Amino acid sequence: MNVSFEKSRSFWTDEPVLEGVSSLLNDERADVVVVGAGIAGMSAAYELASSGKKVIILDRGPIGKGMTARTTAHLASASDDGFDELIRLRGIDNASAWRESQQAAIDRIETLQQKLKIDCDFQRVDGYLFAARTEDVEWLEREFEAAQKAGLPVFKQTGVPLAGSDATPALRYPDQARVHPLKYLHGLARAIVDAGGRFYADATVVEVAEDDDGVRVVTADGRTIHADFVVVATNAPITDRFAIHTKQAPYRTYAMAFELPSGALPDALYWDTLDPYHYVRLQPGENNVDVLIVGGEDHRSGEANDAPDRFAALEDWMRARLPSLGKELRRWSGQVLEPIDGMAFIGRDPGSERVFVATGDSGQGMTHGALAGLIIKDMILTGASRWAEAYDPARSPLNAVGEYVSENLTTPKNFAEYVTPGEIGSWDQLKPGEGAIVRSGLSKVAAFRDDDGTLFLRSAVCSHLGCIVHWNAFERCWDCPCHGSQFAPCGEALNGPAYGPLQEHKP
Ligand SMILES: Cc1cc2nc3c(=O)[nH]c(=O)nc-3n(C[C@H](O)[C@H](O)[C@H](O)COP(=O)(O)OP(=O)(O)OC[C@H]3O[C@@H](n4cnc5c(N)ncnc54)[C@H](O)[C@@H]3O)c2cc1C
Ligand code: FES
Repeated sequence: MNVSFEKSRSFWTDEPVLEGVSSLLNDERADVVVVGAGIAGMSAAYELASSGKKVIILDRGPIGKGMTARTTAHLASASDDGFDELIRLRGIDNASAWRESQQAAIDRIETLQQKLKIDCDFQRVDGYLFAARTEDVEWLEREFEAAQKAGLPVFKQTGVPLAGSDATPALRYPDQARVHPLKYLHGLARAIVDAGGRFYADATVVEVAEDDDGVRVVTADGRTIHADFVVVATNAPITDRFAIHTKQAPYRTYAMAFELPSGALPDALYWDTLDPYHYVRLQPGENNVDVLIVGGEDHRSGEANDAPDRFAALEDWMRARLPSLGKELRRWSGQVLEPIDGMAFIGRDPGSERVFVATGDSGQGMTHGALAGLIIKDMILTGASRWAEAYDPARSPLNAVGEYVSENLTTPKNFAEYVTPGEIGSWDQLKPGEGAIVRSGLSKVAAFRDDDGTLFLRSAVCSHLGCIVHWNAFERCWDCPCHGSQFAPCGEALNGPAYGPLQEHKP
């Protein structure tokens, strides 16, 4: 199981990526094992398999149905944290490396969809960042200068084609792009298989360890794969306990798809300057009706349970700016991992020689995923990558001490919940479809009653590092605010870093 078992369906979820994939039934050997079949894992698998490596890809769920199936797939070399902030946090050399590498990632997706003949609606478009409030105009001015300093083509303009925005100050970034994420993954999967790569689904990895023979990867079913290298592309790494998880924080974000008459909005990417920001793109449709996808309303994972209000706010915001917006097609949510210093973690897993990770996607995990393929391939094949230092997972975020402290306050705050009362007095109070935390003696219990009335009682203690999970009524899952694990009502882990289930609670 993985996040594809949560309740909402994204606009793309139903697109097949690779079906009929079996589970791992025997021990095997490969040059490289890739754990996780999202954009990061499949990009790495493609780059390595097409370079002659024998690659095995394992996923705990179906192929390509993790967070990549919940994305909105803007492909941007403009930084969503802003270059001004990136330069403050990492300096101009790393900010320039970020810009160059994100441009290379978009170029790589463009090249591969052409070369592999992937029909995935890839389109180069402009990106517009526009001021949401008059007090943001000065910030936009600074961002213009910072983006130029980092080498990104950027133009000032007045107005964006949204209602009431004729005089709104904005920045235009040419050569951004959009793509259908799962059509793209489908093409990559086909190419990986053609290059000899082997996929196994429903194969949960529970151990990754270096030994004299290389690396050992063990699944929950007790199968072992030996390899020279492992790429851990599980969105939130399952291998680290602290080294990376204290440097990134999980945020839930919300997205909606609507019909839109063709031509009502130029095909482009749009973001505003709020925090959290709104993000908008188009997806080509049929019969003169396109699809508009809008996202935003983010919050720290597990720290809000008010999705209907967030969707209402998102819809109001969009309709006020686009009165011709048609009927709603889908609404869904997902999670992004925000690195505290603005750049993802891609490269050698801290303390390992043969284990590589890709995480810290921020809202730009599609380009980070494609980039992970380029960086990790170079590091495995040649021992180096021009962007290795900038994205080094072992780096110390020296200029992000404030962010480090504020993002890590969640854990002690959460541990205080061990001694607080439950949210309701007894699980008998739960109606069908409801979940809540209940105190039972010294324990906290994650209690859920399904639509048929069956009661599920699991320990509320996250199987990663012991924080207390919180109910997510919209997705019908348990979210851990500390490092982003998500669990099904039956306790099974749906999203890392946890791989083990919530323990059964016996009253
Ligand atoms: C609503 C939303 C909007 C977004 N918008 C954008 C955007 O516009 N542009 C952009 O660039 N990014 C965006 N992002 C971020 C981006 O989509 C993600 O960062 C990216 O898809 C993550 O890819 P991934 O390969 O790291 O993870 P995933 O796609 O989640 O893949 C990881 C895989 O690992 C598997 N796995 C986990 N644990 C194990 C285990 N123990 N054993 C075996 N397999 C395991 C999972 O099942 C999963 O399939 C958005 C995200 C969301 C949620
Ligand atoms: S995800 Fe780390 S404690 Fe829950």
